[in-house]
Amino acid sequence: MNFEVLLADRLAPAFEAVAGAPVDPAVRVSQHADLQSGAALAMARQLGRAPRAIAAEVAAKADLDGLASITLSGPGFLNLTIADDVITAALDGLDDRLGVPPVSTPDRVVIDYSGPNAAKEMHVGHLRSTIIGDALARIFAFAGHDVIRVNHLGDWGTQFGMLIEHLADLGGVGGSYTLGDLTDFYRQARVKFDNDDDFRARSRLRVVTLQSGEPESRALWQRLITQSHRAFLDVYGRLGVTLAAGDFVGESFYQDQLGSVVDELTASGLLVESEGALCAFPPGFTGRDGDPLPLIVRKSDGGFGYAATDLAALRHRTRVLGANRLLYVVGAPQQTHFRMVYAVARAAGWLPDGVTAEHVGFGSVLGPDGKMLRTRTGETIKLTDLLDEASARASSAAIGIGAIKYADLAGDRRSDYVFDWDRMLSSTGDTGPYLQYAYARIRSLFAKATLSPGPIMLTAPAERDLALKVLAFEPALQAAIDAREPHRLAVYLHGLAVAFSAFYEQCPILRAEPPLQASRLALADRTSRTLASGLTLLGIALPKAM
Ligand code: ARG
Repeated sequence: MNFEVLLADRLAPAFEAVAGAPVDPAVRVSQHADLQSGAALAMARQLGRAPRAIAAEVAAKADLDGLASITLSGPGFLNLTIADDVITAALDGLDDRLGVPPVSTPDRVVIDYSGPNAAKEMHVGHLRSTIIGDALARIFAFAGHDVIRVNHLGDWGTQFGMLIEHLADLGGVGGSYTLGDLTDFYRQARVKFDNDDDFRARSRLRVVTLQSGEPESRALWQRLITQSHRAFLDVYGRLGVTLAAGDFVGESFYQDQLGSVVDELTASGLLVESEGALCAFPPGFTGRDGDPLPLIVRKSDGGFGYAATDLAALRHRTRVLGANRLLYVVGAPQQTHFRMVYAVARAAGWLPDGVTAEHVGFGSVLGPDGKMLRTRTGETIKLTDLLDEASARASSAAIGIGAIKYADLAGDRRSDYVFDWDRMLSSTGDTGPYLQYAYARIRSLFAKATLSPGPIMLTAPAERDLALKVLAFEPALQAAIDAREPHRLAVYLHGLAVAFSAFYEQCPILRAEPPLQASRLALADRTSRTLASGLTLLGIALPKAM
């Protein structure tokens, strides 16, 4: 139930009548009442009147239809108190969508997330993109948008020359050699590449044969890719991430579209030759020296890189997939890359009016020393090792992995955060286990209850607080969508669990008289349903008991 919007709609005509023009009633949650509007203060100067007089006139004119009562406060605030019967009716009628109507005009939104690199093990750097992207995909889909998940895998490029050549050395296409640990495999290939001239020369040739589609090279490449996909799907399964094999669209997919990317950009006059390379220079991007920054579309050796592939992928997403909204959940260091890609795509007509592309950036995961999280010996941490440790440290995988995911989602995504096992696994505080515990506690309450939930009545302040918290799910979800910030939902859920704790302490449930007991059970039921939906939207599992 979005009381902010409902009451703003109700107040708007009164404000307009007083101001003689449309006014944003600015209804917000407040500490002083359920909701508050400070719009009269903002209008005062323009109207040349005292804000309190304006507020009084608005209050007299407003027709709130029994939704809430108004009082004047301070220099001209309108304090709004929602009627108890409105609250109880909303809670009694709460449906599976928790009062959130599906969007009236759904966007077709491509969410590009995770994007690990093939033939390399996923590391902790891919963790945030995977977790944040998956939460956004779930949230947008719940709201009623048409979500297309895309896992833009790094499965193409010159490094595959050395990887394939190494695989060929180990027994080739039909060989019985199992790739095993892909990180080790990559490292071995790298060492040979750096130290063995012959291997290096063969690797370079491999790039050429692979790109020309020569069958043996292609088959070796396919072996590496298949193995990588399996490893990624395994991690997604453990993480409870909704990316499926059908969502994997690697860089290789766009290779035969790169020529036409160049052609179209050339026809639009967007490419300039610079030191043998074909570059776009979108206006407004300069390097440290003040020189225009190039987006390299075709390298001087004729090859294509990351930027060209992203241009092709963008064009494909708007033109072929018909998306009107693109979200790229990728770390902050790639911000300039994406801004330049969007600028060039916009100039090329691949992002027409009404179609948006947005980089949903995020900060780094830091170790206890405040530097990028690494192993004790300074190496990048493998995601599988991290997940193993989470399951070992917690009483179950659901709790360990829920703790990691919640810690990643609970803060503003743009900020870095310190990875701290003890903190994230604590059953108190702003943690995943705390929320999972709140949910499990309600489940166990229902296991003991003999009565069924009944009509809700509000007899104590803690009941009313909890009731309003439950009904605030919709604005929290809306805020998460509007700002592409899953933490809005996480913060809300934590507040809900805290409100439930206060209610649980102050309001006896199973010892209450039958009608009150049924009412309190109903409040607990609405709370658990909201916690369950909210945690599921964040991709956090719900342990039945803890
Ligand atoms: N594979 C890239 C990396 O590891 C991330 C891909 C992000 N998505 C994209 N469309 N560029 O850095």
